[in-house]
Parts: sequence; C-alpha cells; structure tokens
Amino acid sequence: MFSKLMVSASLALVAQAALPAINTTGNAFWNTETGERFYIRGVDYQPGGSSNLTDPLADETICMRDIPYFEQLGINTIRVYSIDNSMDHTACMKALDAAGIYLILDVNTPKASISRVSPSCSYNSDYLQNVFATIDEFSSYDNVLGFFAGNEVIDSVNNTDTATYVKATVRDMKKYLKARNYRQIPVGYSAADVTSNRYLAAEYFNCGDDEDARIDMFGVNDYSWCGASSYTVSGYSQKVALYSGYSIPIFLSEYGCNTVKTDGARLFTEVEAIYSSQMAAVFSGGLAYEYSQEANDYGLVQISDDGLNVTTLTDFDNLKNELNKTSNPSGNGGAVSTYSISSCPTYEAGIWEANNTLPDMPEAASVYFTSGAGTPQGTGFATQWSCYDDDSDADSEDSSSSFSTTTTAAAVSSTLSSSIVSSATASGKAATSSSKAAGSIVDVPVIFNLMIGGVDGSLAVAASVAALAFGTALTI
Ligand SMILES: *[C@@H]1O[C@H](CO)[C@@H](O)[C@H](O)[C@H]1NC(C)=O
Ligand SMILES: *[C@@H]1O[C@H](CO)[C@@H](O)[C@H](O)[C@H]1NC(C)=O
Ligand SMILES: *[C@@H]1O[C@H](CO)[C@@H](O)[C@H](O)[C@H]1NC(C)=O
Ligand SMILES: *[C@@H]1O[C@H](CO)[C@@H](O)[C@H](O)[C@H]1NC(C)=O
Ligand SMILES: *[C@@H]1O[C@H](CO)[C@@H](O)[C@H](O)[C@H]1NC(C)=O
Ligand SMILES: *[C@@H]1O[C@H](CO)[C@@H](O)[C@H](O)[C@H]1NC(C)=O
Repeated sequence: MFSKLMVSASLALVAQAALPAINTTGNAFWNTETGERFYIRGVDYQPGGSSNLTDPLADETICMRDIPYFEQLGINTIRVYSIDNSMDHTACMKALDAAGIYLILDVNTPKASISRVSPSCSYNSDYLQNVFATIDEFSSYDNVLGFFAGNEVIDSVNNTDTATYVKATVRDMKKYLKARNYRQIPVGYSAADVTSNRYLAAEYFNCGDDEDARIDMFGVNDYSWCGASSYTVSGYSQKVALYSGYSIPIFLSEYGCNTVKTDGARLFTEVEAIYSSQMAAVFSGGLAYEYSQEANDYGLVQISDDGLNVTTLTDFDNLKNELNKTSNPSGNGGAVSTYSISSCPTYEAGIWEANNTLPDMPEAASVYFTSGAGTPQGTGFATQWSCYDDDSDADSEDSSSSFSTTTTAAAVSSTLSSSIVSSATASGKAATSSSKAAGSIVDVPVIFNLMIGGVDGSLAVAASVAALAFGTALTI
C-alpha cells in the first residue's frame, strides 16, 4: 500500500549518489564506472495504459507510489512508452536514480509519431520538434539508458515501408544528440515479433555506412514463452540462433505471454532462460510486460481507481521470485565486440519495402540543431495533422493548425479511447496465436500500437485518423 512513509523513504534516497551511465560496446551494455556488463532486469511501466494515458514520471505521487514496488521486484530498468515533454521530470528521475533504476524512454506520443498508413507525411519538422524536445528534457539524466525511436511501427507483413522513416528518425536523433553536445545516449527500435520480417528489420536498422542512421540497441517484443515452457519449446533457442552474430545489444523489450496461467498467474520461468549463459551471449536481459493491470490483463499489480492503493498480484510474486533466484551470468557473459554491422536487406515487394536511401531531414528542422528544440509542446501536439498542408514538410508555424482543429482532435481522442476495448480483445487474440506451433504472424499485446496511430489490432483508429487526415483520398 502507498503511504506517506514510503514517500519520505524514497525522498530520503534522493540525496544518494547518481547512477553511472550505461553505454554500448559490441553486442552488450556496460556500466561505464565499474566496466561490468549490464543486463536489463526490468518491467514496462505505463500505469493507466493507453486508455488513461498519463505521464508517470511527471507526477511524484505516481512514481513515488510505484518505486518501492520496483525495489521489491529487484529491477534495474523501467521502460516508459509515452511522456509529456512539457512537464518537469526531475523529482521522479532522481528518485529512480536513487533506487538504482534506469529508464528506457520511447519518444513518441499517440499524436506525434510515424504513421503506419502515411509514414512519409508524418515524418515532418513538427514531429522532429516533439522528439527533440523530449531529448532536451531527458538527456541530462545519467540514468536514461536509451531512447526508442519507435515501437512496433512494423506490425504486419504489409507495412515494412514505415521502417524508412523510423530509421530517418533514428539518424536525426543521433545527429541531434551530437549537435547539442548531449551524452551519446543509445537510440534504438523496439520490434514486434513478425515472423516474416523480424530479422529483416533487425538487419535494416543495423546496416549502412552512416553510423548515425544505425540503431545502437534492438528491442524485441516477444511473447513466445507461455507457461512452464522451456528454452527449446518456447522457440527462444531459435531466436538465439537467429540473432547470433548481431553486432549491437539485443534485449526483450516486452516479455510475458499471458495465455497460459498456473493458479491464475504467469510463472515467469523464462527469467531463468533469459539470464542463462546460453542466452547472454546474444541477449542482454529484458523487461516484463507490464507493471500495472490494464484491460489487456498483463499486470503485476492492481492500482485502485483513485490511484491510491497498489495491490500486488501473484504475477508480481512470481516475477520477483524468479528474478531473485536468477543471477546474471558471470564475467562478460559471452559478449562479443567484433561482429560486423548487418548488410542491408534489398527491396522486395510484399516482403521488405523499406528504402536504403533515407529521406533528408526536413529542412525546417535544421534550426533545432543550432538553437535546441525550443518550447516543448506536450502530448496535445498532433504532428500528423501537418499532412493536411500542401507542403508535407510542414514548418513550425503551420503547427498552429494542429491546435485550432479542436473538434477534430477531440474526435480522434474519443476514437482512441473507444478503440481500447477492441484493441484489448485483439491483444488476447494476438497472444493466442503467438504460440510457436500456430505459425503466428505477430506476437503482440496490441495496446501500445495506439502509440503510432496503428493498423492491425487498432485498425479502426488508423482508419479514422487516415480518413480525417486525408478525406476520402485514402482507402484502407
Ligand atoms: C563503455 O564503457 C566501458 C566501461 O567503462 C568502456 O570500457 C568502453 O570503452 C566504453 N565504450 C564506449 C563506446 O565509450
Ligand atoms: C495488412 O495486414 C494485416 C494483417 O497483418 C491486415 O489486417 C490489413 O488489412 C492489411 N492492410 C492492408 C492495407 O493491406
Ligand atoms: C487516470 O490516471 C490519473 C493518474 O493516475 C488518475 O488520477 C485518474 O483517476 C485516472 N482516471 C481514470 C478515469 O481512471
Ligand atoms: C486502500 O487500502 C486500505 C488497506 O487495505 C483500505 O483500508 C482502503 O479502504 C483502500 N482504499 C481504497 C480507496 O481502495
Ligand atoms: C535475492 O534477495 C536477497 C535478499 O533480499 C538479496 O540479497 C539477493 O541479492 C537477491 N538476489 C538477486 C539475484 O536479486
Ligand atoms: C528510395 O528513395 C529514393 C530517394 O528518395 C527514391 O528516389 C527512390 O524512388 C526510393 N525507392 C523506392 C523503392 O521507394
């Protein structure tokens, strides 16, 4: 239970020393102070989910409520899918730091993200302003482990073309970090487990001569270990084989299949495999999906409607016990620093449609490199609306139109909310079809597809957004 006592305990910790930064060398993460290998032992964290999207790092009453539970779990990392870049995050970031916890942050919001239906038009200077303003807000914290430029933007066989624009965003983020003299925080991509293109995506984001356009870390959302499975039955062994030789760190950015339960709960026995020496040569740990119980039933804790009471579920105890009995491999865990970057997959219609020639950064975004991103616009900034403009490379001045279309924006948010139910339903379906034997296409809890105005599980959302943005021009 949340209490004043816990708040003061956490506040007392704030005075303690800062965590050392984590960097990447070869296919692993390293503690830059001790030189030891760093394994992600984490949970995905977005209380409220997408139905009540809330920045948990801007509100001390939320993060201070939850940090004691992170400490009980013994984790060292959380991943947050969406924040409000106009808010101050100092108190929560310091409290996380004091608790020994790093942050992996996705830089998108539901309204400012690369669109699956119209990726080219959504990659514009307003979008980059929002991304860069998020970097401005977070880059000073040493406990930021990395940024995700995108989450599951490719979630199907038919939207691999979106990767071009996500990779352009990766490039712009890395160049921006350099231009602004920020710490070179790793920039990555978090991939859906789409059988037909998951390895092509891994290669694509880690290929090409421009070092800035290559990701620094690759997250895979993987729900293939269900119940009391095993290294071979789950297919983990095949994933290790698939990704072996990959030159940068890979980790499970989401794990925790919920289709098989024992006494109503997930066992989380995959933890023992994830931190075993056989996996550690290829994978650097993972994050269990997810901290709070939401409509899609992946929670470790139940949070009361008023946000005041946290109740741990059996899933919480099981994950905690598994993490506690599973140490990291000793030494460097088989990390390798001499693998080569990947070769770029070639364009193949219907299979891999991303372009190895990236679009230039929109001219209007150049000013941010010299003066910073300027005023952060928060979660209301709808950058996909610049697709309305004749010039798809919208200037910042045009962004006022995003704010003036109140009715339309409201229509979109209500579409987002009403799609939660179907999204959660789709999630169950996706997870069901995720068992290896089913020869699944995608293993995803679809809830965070909404972050990118998605198709697939949230097809209704994408369709409405597309219809609103392009009139009847676009048919899905
Ligand atoms: C990362 O940190 C480790 C440990 O301090 C160090 O040996 C390595 O050179 C660093 N790598 C980079 C790319 O800075
Ligand atoms: C893309 O594929 C998904 C299945 O993965 C399907 O539901 C959707 O309709 C397809 N979209 C288009 C535009 O073909
Ligand atoms: C949404 O989340 C906020 C912050 O936790 C909370 O105060 C509010 O009660 C929630 N709203 C709903 C409808 O659950
Ligand atoms: C919170 O939990 C405490 C102790 O279990 C209980 O007395 C209280 O009624 C709960 N409050 C809410 C709002 O659920
Ligand atoms: C397990 O818990 C004990 C007691 O809190 C702690 O000393 C130990 O470091 C934990 N082990 C791991 C692997 O987290
Ligand atoms: C790839 O991008 C280049 C440069 O923008 C463009 O000329 C070319 O047509 C694109 N190729 C495909 C297959 O989209």
